[in-house]
Amino acid sequence: MIKVGIIIGSTRPGRNGEAVARWVHDLATGRDDASFEIVDLKDFHLPHLDEALPPAMGHYANAHTRAWADKIASFDAYVFVTPEYNHSTSGVLKNAIDFLYAEWNNKAAAFVSYGSAGGVRAVEHLRLIMGELHVADVRTQIALSLATDFENFQVLTPAAHHADAVTAMLDELLAWGGALKTLRDTWQAKGTSGAA
Ligand SMILES: Cc1cc2nc3c(=O)[nH]c(=O)nc-3n(C[C@H](O)[C@H](O)[C@H](O)COP(=O)(O)O)c2cc1C
Repeated sequence: MIKVGIIIGSTRPGRNGEAVARWVHDLATGRDDASFEIVDLKDFHLPHLDEALPPAMGHYANAHTRAWADKIASFDAYVFVTPEYNHSTSGVLKNAIDFLYAEWNNKAAAFVSYGSAGGVRAVEHLRLIMGELHVADVRTQIALSLATDFENFQVLTPAAHHADAVTAMLDELLAWGGALKTLRDTWQAKGTSGAA
């Protein structure tokens, strides 16, 4: 069964991200075609990137990097729950993404964002980053408005139509996540690491 990590992209005290991730998780766990787990960056205590070698070389010197790598490697697909900070994703999520390379490769990703304009600018930046990491990002995304999907910008009250969009987004994510798992398994059986 496909394993999906729902990554909370904010560590700020009083963050909205945790409620958004739990809402997605609650909707997702009704499905029987995948398993879903919330991944909270707060639990991993990553400093600013402190590995001497580029992550693409695959040599992680630090225990915190290896713990993060083991967690990310355990999933076939991801839902990034991202705030919009200054028209991009959060620094803490970008840093956590930058720590790793192979663990992300040839997996699938979807996005749930929130902000005054639904967080869409954060997701546009994340889509560029996904390309560099060989991550296939699905089209359907959830953009929650701080003005209409939250009370007082703080209490999540998502409009009903978002639930259908989550279903459509997860359908896309699981299809691509499953296809890429097959690809990775085929490559592994052949002893190769990619298309070359
Ligand atoms: C540093 C910072 C920058 C922000 N910049 C934007 C922005 O450019 N666009 C936007 O729509 N909201 C912006 N916001 C509002 C956030 O989207 C909103 O506070 C959201 O709840 C943050 O996510 P979090 O609560 O999970 O940390 C910003 C908030 C912070 C803290």
